[in-house]
Order: sequence, then C-alpha cells, then structure tokens
Amino acid sequence: MKEILHQLRCIGCGARIAGAEAQPDFRCAVCGELFDVEYPGWSERGGKDRPNAGALKWVWRERRSSREQLDCSGVWRFRELLPILDDFSNAVSLREGNTPLYHMTRAALALRIDLLFAKHQGMNPTGSFKDTGMTAAMSVAKERGFAWVACASTGNTSASMAAYAARAGLRSLVLIPEGKIAWGKLSQAMDYGAVTCQLKADFDGCLRLLSQIVKEAPIYLLNSVNPYRLEGQKTPAFEIAEAFDWSVPDHLIVPGGNLGNSSALGKGFREMYELGLVAKMPRISVIQAAGANPLVRSFREHQAASLEPMEAHTRATAIRIGNPASWRKAARAIQETGGWCLDVTEAEIAIAKAEIGAEGLGCEPASAVTLAGLKKLRAEGKVASAETVVLMLTGHTLKDADYTINFHRGKLLAIDEAEGREAEIAGLRRDAVAVEATPAAVLDALKGSSR
Ligand code: F0G
Repeated sequence: MKEILHQLRCIGCGARIAGAEAQPDFRCAVCGELFDVEYPGWSERGGKDRPNAGALKWVWRERRSSREQLDCSGVWRFRELLPILDDFSNAVSLREGNTPLYHMTRAALALRIDLLFAKHQGMNPTGSFKDTGMTAAMSVAKERGFAWVACASTGNTSASMAAYAARAGLRSLVLIPEGKIAWGKLSQAMDYGAVTCQLKADFDGCLRLLSQIVKEAPIYLLNSVNPYRLEGQKTPAFEIAEAFDWSVPDHLIVPGGNLGNSSALGKGFREMYELGLVAKMPRISVIQAAGANPLVRSFREHQAASLEPMEAHTRATAIRIGNPASWRKAARAIQETGGWCLDVTEAEIAIAKAEIGAEGLGCEPASAVTLAGLKKLRAEGKVASAETVVLMLTGHTLKDADYTINFHRGKLLAIDEAEGREAEIAGLRRDAVAVEATPAAVLDALKGSSR
C-alpha cells in the first residue's frame, strides 16, 4: 500500500496508524473510536504532495470525455483525492457515480425556493449511493488479497457489496435483520451471489455480531466503519461542486441512518475547502425518521457530546438504525457547517416520497426524509427562498415497491399516523383502477383523475 500517501487517524484519541495496521473491525485499539483516512502530504501549503486546485479541475473535466475505464467512474475520476490504492488497476468499478443533479421545479415552487435540486444517488449501478463507497473499499479488499468480504445491512449496502464482490471475483457474506429489509434489495444480494443470513436481530445487532466474526476469520468488513467506504462516498460532494462550477450550494440535506454518508459528504466538502477548490462549505443538515432518531436526541439532550442507542422503528427500513456507528463524524459535519439535525414522521416521509415521485424522479422512503426535512426547515425560517438547496436522494424508487404500492392503495399509514394529513395524502394517491377493456371505459377513467 502507499502508506506514505495515506494513513488512518483515530477521531477519538488522534492516534495515527498505517492503513494495513487497522484492526478487522476498524476500531481504534487505544480508545475504540473510528478512523478517518488522512493524507499527510496535503497539509502544508506548497507541500510537494498537495494537489493543485486549478490543475485538478482541469484534469477532472478532461476525463469526462475519456474512454478509460477509471475515468468513466464518477469516483475514480477524482482519484487524486482518494489515493488509497497502491495500483489503480486494482480498482473494481461498475461505472458508479456521475449521477444526475435534477432541478426540482414543483417542490421549489411549492416551497418558494428559487433553486432546489436533487442529487439522485439512486441512479448508481445497484440503485443506491452505496456504490460510490463500495468501489473504493472493495478495491482495497482486492488489493490486500482478501477472499471474503462481509457487511451487515438494511439492504442497500448488501446489494452493492454483493455486486462489487462478484465483479472482483470475491465471495461475500451478508447479515440482514429478518423481515426488515425491502424485497428489491434482498433480491439483489441473491442475484449477485452473496451468502445471505437473515438474523433475528436488528441492524445494530447484525453489525455487532459481524464485528466479532471478522476478528475470528479473514473476512474484510465493508460497512461504513471501514474508512475507505467514506473516501468513495465523499465524491458526490466533488460532483456537486463541479456541477455548480465550483461555487457550492448553500445547503445540503442528507438522510441519516448509520451516519456514514453525511460524514463522508462533510469530509468531501471539507477537503475541497482546505485544498482551495471551493471558497466555502455548504450547510449540511441530517434528517432522521422520528422513530429512529438517536442523533436528533443526542443534539437535543446532550449537544451531540454523547449518544444513547435506542430501539429503532420506521417503515423507511434503510434508516432503521438505533446505534449509528459514525455519529461523531456526522455531528462534526453538522456543527462545523452550521447545519441542523431533525426528524420527520412516517406521514411526512410518505407524503414527501409521493411528491418526489410526482416530479418524475422517485426515490426510496429513506431518501424522502430530505424533502420532508426541508419543509420543516423552511417552515421554521431556517432556509431562505434565495438559497440554493440540494437534497441527497440516496436510493432508487424500485428498491421498495411494496411501500409505494401500499401508499397509493391507502394501506401504508395507520389512521392515527395520517391524522390531519388525510386530504394531502388523498391528493397524492394514484391507485391503479380496474377498468373494462373498452375505449369508453378507459376514457371514463380519465374523468375521475384530479390532475
Ligand atoms: N438512504 C438509504 C437509501 C440507505 O440505504 C441508507 C443506509 C441511508 C440513507 C443512510 O445512510 O447509513 O450512511 O447514514 N443504508 C445502510 C445499508 C445502513 O445497510 O444499506 P447512512
């Protein structure tokens, strides 16, 4: 490994170790905290390894018209800012990243915000943002000669890991909470050939168990406690800045589960700022489901100095996490950028998801917390209409078709959950109707449509 180029720094005690010295569960041997990947050569201005901002912008733009495999990846296109491999030919890529940034015209109008965008990470090869992190950490697994990789997952990590493992020629082990992941995601893990174990445990229990297993067998852990995952997941920050011609948006809104993604995006913007690629960082706000809101509670009750694990419940199963591993990193991103951490109800999530669908974009439930959160921030006067806001849509709408169908059939929410929002929900529902196979009957169905 190019240990000179990168090292790991503990976010708790500050201990620095070489990448290959990390324990199998990626916890610090001294204090038990997580590590960040750090690039020592970047620190001094004028330092020999410090990347030149202008040159980077030029070379990244040039690569957009290249046909080289690495350049076609929206992660490895930015490889100067993630020099984590000895040899880039070890990169395992499925052409991840380069995801679209959509203007959300309807929601912008409804919320009276001039510039509202969705960065649709669901448009990645396996349908979620996990692919940007998986390409990075899977490449490290391959370069270090592992035969097996593993993750605990609420579904998307396992889908992504299974696909990248298959591409790398590695075997993969998935631990998932039984009955609590969406079928689309489970089907992907099967399709890509993972060994999938459904456990009578929640996500937090699955991750705890796996952290023990990797200490007993040579299996490479690919959850976001693995700091190389975050190196890949920081690249959408580069794409966003590039899309705005290096003037960053005012506010980035991210769903929060295990809190790796918000941490990674914070790192991406921080590094760009420190290297002089951008002149400021956007506010980063994290939104959780009300039934799975340990970070919200941590901010509310302990000013994010400590976090109490909780039993999590939400239909947005991707973020059904009560003991988020990366909470300290995410709290730092929120605090240093002046962002907020808030939660939204099941009805708010369902309504926001239907609205994102009605824009022609669609997303999975966990992603919809971003729009639901923005509505709250707007109502509380925390987002001005002149601000440029980007919502991170983390997963594709087809990931959880059951949720969508149940919503449109009026079977998703309990009566008390929908209380006070019935009219809004009715206006968004588009259930399929059974119609006779005649032109008259079909045309008749149009008359009943409200839009
Ligand atoms: N959105 C989606 C669609 C997710 O799958 C996840 C996490 C999140 C948001 C939250 O991101 O954990 O980085 O804060 N899914 C993980 C998984 C936990 O196993 O697929 P986070």
